[in-house]
Amino acid sequence: MIILVGYTSIEGQTKKIAEAIAARIEQAGDRALLFNIASMDEYAVGHPEAAILCAPIHAGRYPGAFTDFVARERPWLNSVPSAFVSVTLSIASDYDDERAEAEHFPEAMKAESGWKPAMIHHAAGALRFTQYDFFKRWMMKRIASHENAPTDTSRDHEFTDWTALASFTTDFLKAARP
Ligand SMILES: Cc1cc2nc3c(=O)[nH]c(=O)nc-3n(C[C@H](O)[C@H](O)[C@H](O)COP(=O)(O)O)c2cc1C
Repeated sequence: MIILVGYTSIEGQTKKIAEAIAARIEQAGDRALLFNIASMDEYAVGHPEAAILCAPIHAGRYPGAFTDFVARERPWLNSVPSAFVSVTLSIASDYDDERAEAEHFPEAMKAESGWKPAMIHHAAGALRFTQYDFFKRWMMKRIASHENAPTDTSRDHEFTDWTALASFTTDFLKAARP
């Protein structure tokens, strides 16, 4: 099976997540078409038969390139087995209301776009303090402190559960195979 693994990524963690999904697909003997949605390239060249899309939340929203792509490709996405990976920090929060908010983002996206992915996976993202500019570092340190997350800005902090991501990918492959 040929599977589109489409992603948008502002700081690189969602790209890393999409790459891990693609590697798992190839390991399982299927073919992954890794595709940066923001590149605006032609994604359909390899004729994918299924799709996993991955997007991060930044300031309460998925990137516009991602929501535009879903709006444009909704008929195709709804015609093949598909899944969505939502990348947030708040899914790893100690607070119930923060995790509930993270869980709501894909539901709102589904309702707005009309895309009906059969599976949704929540992946925790990363704090890439070493890559942020001064203002972003200050803002993300404040958010991290509020969340009881690490605030050591001299290094990056990754929260993604790679084992859970691999299990999700395996489950998707089982469900999507004809
Ligand atoms: C400016 C900024 C705003 C963010 N806003 C949110 C947010 O509203 N909710 C949340 O759960 N995570 C938020 N995050 C965390 C990101 O989802 C997380 O860092 C993720 O790994 C980013 O993915 P990317 O590296 O692919 O861009 C934010 C991160 C940044 C840098």
